[in-house]
Amino acid sequence: MAFSQRHLLGIEPLSQSDITAILDLADQYAEKGRGTVKHGDALAGLTQINMFFENSTRTQASFELAGKRLGADVMNMAMQTSSVKKGETLIDTALTLNAMHPDLLVVRHPHSGAVNLLAEKVNCAVLNAGDGKHEHPTQALLDALTIRRAKGRLHRLNIAICGDISHSRVARSNLILLGKMENRVKLVGPSTLMPSGAAEWGVEVYDDMVEGLKDADVVMMLRLQRERMDGGFIPSEREYYHRYGLDAEKLSHAKDDAIVMHPGPMNRGVEIDGTIADDINRSVIQEQVEMGVAVRMAAMDLLARNLMVRRADKGEVYV
Ligand code: NCD
Repeated sequence: MAFSQRHLLGIEPLSQSDITAILDLADQYAEKGRGTVKHGDALAGLTQINMFFENSTRTQASFELAGKRLGADVMNMAMQTSSVKKGETLIDTALTLNAMHPDLLVVRHPHSGAVNLLAEKVNCAVLNAGDGKHEHPTQALLDALTIRRAKGRLHRLNIAICGDISHSRVARSNLILLGKMENRVKLVGPSTLMPSGAAEWGVEVYDDMVEGLKDADVVMMLRLQRERMDGGFIPSEREYYHRYGLDAEKLSHAKDDAIVMHPGPMNRGVEIDGTIADDINRSVIQEQVEMGVAVRMAAMDLLARNLMVRRADKGEVYV
């Protein structure tokens, strides 16, 4: 299997074959997840530490379940009560954990680039579970797997990513991945929530939902990230919903069989109408959560294999 990476820090460093290797293995884990016996032993004997410096429900639960299903010893660090609150630096925390010989470190951090910095200081494989506005690679991979399963392919699709683009690491990782796989990517949102320079990223930019959603195969909605806003980016939530909230009327401009996605957590009635989110004929939001576990199993499995090879090359004996 052609997966060459030491860490999973972003989609940017991945090749098409890296992406396909993760998705193909994840497909197998997804099947296993639907069976009665969900367990494997790919990570047996290995230690996985989850460090979430930002709140998370589904991503942390998903990484924890993925590690447990593959037989790893999984530890969740409670960062809210950790020494970080006493002023310890990120690097000191990393070095302390490194001394416990973890094999996989899963990190979410509010600052862009923090996870890359940490990866330089430790001996294990590091997975980025979201860093600031930078990247969220496993989210883009689980979205890609969901799309591939629903549409039967992951290329030459018309994909609209809508809403708060400028604060979203999900949008960034997705547009990089979908671009690498040769899709037509459209970013749709108010100019106040569109990063300057977006037009130079090889994507199309729209500030109107009707135009942006035209002929879309996939409509990906994003959460309005209030916690990252420090001013008036939108007039009001009501006005925002009126212009950019996904409802049946706006969705009717996409293809008849277009799927609707959202990474969660959702603000119903702000960026998406609850009825659309719950419509099992259109929405694949629950499938995204399911694929999240499978993709994280696949990514950790592949990284652990590379880690073992590196350690064997260096003559280190582990496991
Ligand atoms: C996303 C995140 O944290 O970046 N959520 C997630 O991982 N499920 C998107 C968001 O918070 O809106």
